[in-house]
Amino acid sequence: MQDKILKTSAESADNKEPIITTRGLVKKFSGKTVLRGIDADIYEGEKVAVIGPSGSGKSTFLRCLNLLEIPTAGKIAFGDEIIYESDYYAQKDKLKELKDHKRAYVSGTDDDEVRSLKARESELKAQLKDLKKELEALKTHAKLLKATSYREGAAEDAEKTEKRIFEAVKEKDSIKAEIKSVKDGIKQRKTVVKSSLDDSKIAEMKADIAAQREVTAAALSRHKKFIKKMDKTVDAHRRMTGMVFQHFNLFNNLSVIDNITLAPVKTGIMEAKAQKKALKAAARKGDKDAEARLLTLPHKLEIIENARKQAFELLERVGLKDKAYVYPATLSGGQKQRIAIVRALAMNPKIMLFDEPTSALDPEMVGEVLQVIKKLADDGMTMVIVTHEMGFAREVATRVLFIDEGQIKEDAPPKELFGNPKNDRLKEFLSKVL
Ligand SMILES: Nc1ncnc2c1ncn2[C@@H]1O[C@H](COP(=O)(O)OP(=O)(O)OP(=O)(O)O)[C@@H](O)[C@H]1O
Ligand SMILES: [Mg+2]
Repeated sequence: MQDKILKTSAESADNKEPIITTRGLVKKFSGKTVLRGIDADIYEGEKVAVIGPSGSGKSTFLRCLNLLEIPTAGKIAFGDEIIYESDYYAQKDKLKELKDHKRAYVSGTDDDEVRSLKARESELKAQLKDLKKELEALKTHAKLLKATSYREGAAEDAEKTEKRIFEAVKEKDSIKAEIKSVKDGIKQRKTVVKSSLDDSKIAEMKADIAAQREVTAAALSRHKKFIKKMDKTVDAHRRMTGMVFQHFNLFNNLSVIDNITLAPVKTGIMEAKAQKKALKAAARKGDKDAEARLLTLPHKLEIIENARKQAFELLERVGLKDKAYVYPATLSGGQKQRIAIVRALAMNPKIMLFDEPTSALDPEMVGEVLQVIKKLADDGMTMVIVTHEMGFAREVATRVLFIDEGQIKEDAPPKELFGNPKNDRLKEFLSKVL
């Protein structure tokens, strides 16, 4: 018990209740889709390692779990409680698709011949672009040759270059002419297509759009309601999910002990105030029990005292009790990260989320931080850890998720995932990092 970081062990790996569930989680940043529908269940007691190439969306996934990022679509549940759910953006996309389709139909572009002519047009345009680039290079080369005309072979080279320039200009003109004729072809074909449009089909499309508009509007109203409600629940949710970042994010103007106790004291006082208000209201209505409980509410000083006591216990367990009164600037990276872990633990989270907790550390400090995390894992803490430490993932994780291009491409116990990877992208990734 002595070397345990957590006071009470939550050994419950066989308790098959997911702590966090995500379904169809999508995150877009200004149009760029970073998460493409993530379905994940994190069960109590699990230690889930998340691996994958840089930019694949690992941090975004973790930040969504903590609602540090608000997803674009999908669902997140914490236990039984849905903490995010919205299909608004998905419905909006559907509406856009229907509108685009109708627009294409009435403008005559929804036609195989027009499509193939358009493909030819963009092919020619690409050729023209390449040719223009080549011409520019040839002209620069020709200029250079003039300046170095004394060089042996310069005359032949100049002649060859001039010839190629002449040919390229001719090619350019012919491509331009073809583009013009393709464009004319498109125009003509569109006129033909447009003259034979089916009015009933257009009416059907309009009806579909109108129906989808309503669906989207309803989704928007649900979305707005949810966001409003979420403002209230998000703090409570974050308190239950301890997050540790690559760059520690300690408050440099606060001592170690204040870094650790700041949040628990603040929330402790807020909770006591809320309780006091509720109990007072009940007592006014004659609730004797509430009146009695009012007297047992912790005083502010007691809350501070308890937070400090717990902070010292946690500090002792990570071997940093003697650093309680120093400022973060005097600590090594490994010590800072151990303090950051303690700070997260001080909120008694149900799950810990680590985003590359060791990648900003000097190699000799990686071990001490991984050891603390391993101890925490052994104590039964549920955790999700984004890491590049494959050895650690193999040793500590109960399950590994491989994320690539915003999707979970493989999900297996470490032995299987590292020993017998199935996905090609995973195989390629492992061949680079192992
Ligand atoms: N706030 C943001 N605004 C715009 N784009 C973002 C934002 N956050 C992340 N992205 C983009 O989303 C993609 C995924 O980023 P993310 O940080 O989740 O990747 P990662 O898998 O954690 O990569 P790494 O291993 O390098 O940490 C990247 O292309 C990134 O540029
Ligand atoms: Mg990252």
